[in-house]
Amino acid sequence: MAQVVRGVIARAKGAPVEVVPIVVPDPGPGEAVVKVQACGVCHTDLHYREGGINDEFPFLLGHEAAGVVEAVGEGVDNVVPGDFVILNWRAVCGRCRSCRRGRPQYCFATHNAKQKMTLEDGTELSPALGIGAFAEKTLVAAGQCTKVDPAAAPAAAGLLGCGVMAGLGAAINTGQVGRGDSVAVIGCGGVGNAAVMGARLAGASRIIAVDVDERKLVTARGLGATHTVNSRETDAVEAIRELTGGNGADVVIDAVGRPETYKQAFYARDLAGTVVLVGVPTPEMTLELPLLDVFGRGGALKSSWYGDCLPERDFPMLIDLYLQGRLDLDAFVSETIALDGVEEAFARMHRGEVLRSVVVL
Ligand SMILES: NC(=O)c1ccc[n+]([C@@H]2O[C@H](COP(=O)([O-])OP(=O)(O)OC[C@H]3O[C@@H](n4cnc5c(N)ncnc54)[C@H](O)[C@@H]3O)[C@@H](O)[C@H]2O)c1
Ligand SMILES: [Zn+2]
Ligand SMILES: [Zn+2]
Repeated sequence: MAQVVRGVIARAKGAPVEVVPIVVPDPGPGEAVVKVQACGVCHTDLHYREGGINDEFPFLLGHEAAGVVEAVGEGVDNVVPGDFVILNWRAVCGRCRSCRRGRPQYCFATHNAKQKMTLEDGTELSPALGIGAFAEKTLVAAGQCTKVDPAAAPAAAGLLGCGVMAGLGAAINTGQVGRGDSVAVIGCGGVGNAAVMGARLAGASRIIAVDVDERKLVTARGLGATHTVNSRETDAVEAIRELTGGNGADVVIDAVGRPETYKQAFYARDLAGTVVLVGVPTPEMTLELPLLDVFGRGGALKSSWYGDCLPERDFPMLIDLYLQGRLDLDAFVSETIALDGVEEAFARMHRGEVLRSVVVL
């Protein structure tokens, strides 16, 4: 029997989100229904709402979630009802050309639920990142459920499902930050501040946080930034160079994703250094750089999709570090809100007042 629960949808480009009844089918083969306990508000949800990702409205928003498995379909053996899980958007297939080459983090055929959640009139919903967890319950592929220690607080744990993992992984996995490296992070929202925390965890000796908002820099200091730069007042490239002996940082992470911040990242890194783009640009953005500088500065220009994470490898380990007090996920939970608070949370995110508003059910 399909169930009707409440969920938050974006019906049309730019229109305010609405809480409406949605229909969640029983799990079919390989699927699971999860009772959502907490789901963070990520900038990517706003990108969806604004039509910046694609036009497949209506979207069922929300994708940084933790909850409890309620029911599983035929053939599911990785989770059972009652398991505490973080939802992921990288349930790897094991069979695509990338998985076969031993690079499952780039899997090109990740699993999502085959059945569709719908509105009551039958209109199919597009779940954000194949999850759709601003809802009392959601239907996902069982592989999207990663079991972790249930001692973790759901509001904090769920954040590993997207933004915090993306930031941590941008530093640790994509940027390969190592002991003694200098790292700069441009844009210190939920993703950028997680990159700051990741750089500290990886042993970076100098961590420079850059933002246009002083409040984010205060948080960055608490999470491990050794220096902060307000790029509204100071030239970010010059400041980063100055703080790194005139050379630039070994790894610069752009957690904003705009041409101007990417250029800052490009020029603020040392020769042969690494740029990691983890912020998501929108379709109209273009970048112009002297090709000679691309060649002459060497190094690596990388993008970080979901922090190059493997949920089954990374989530349980990071939750263990959190429970040991070595990874402050709680610092990212700025406020908890109800399902009907998502629109206001977008506004607060836009005004820079929060790292994460987390819907708690
Ligand atoms: N690559 C991935 O897998 C992945 C995953 C999750 C989110 N993201 C993306 O990461 C980006 C950041 O997400 P978030 O949730 O942290 O957003 P956020 O809105 O919480 O944070 C953005 C931060 O950037 C700062 N900022 C804006 N313009 C700036 C500028 N010109 N210079 C310096 N700082 C500036 C803001 O003050 C804010 O602190 C978004 O584009 C989001 O879509 C990517
Ligand atoms: Zn694959
Ligand atoms: Zn996200």
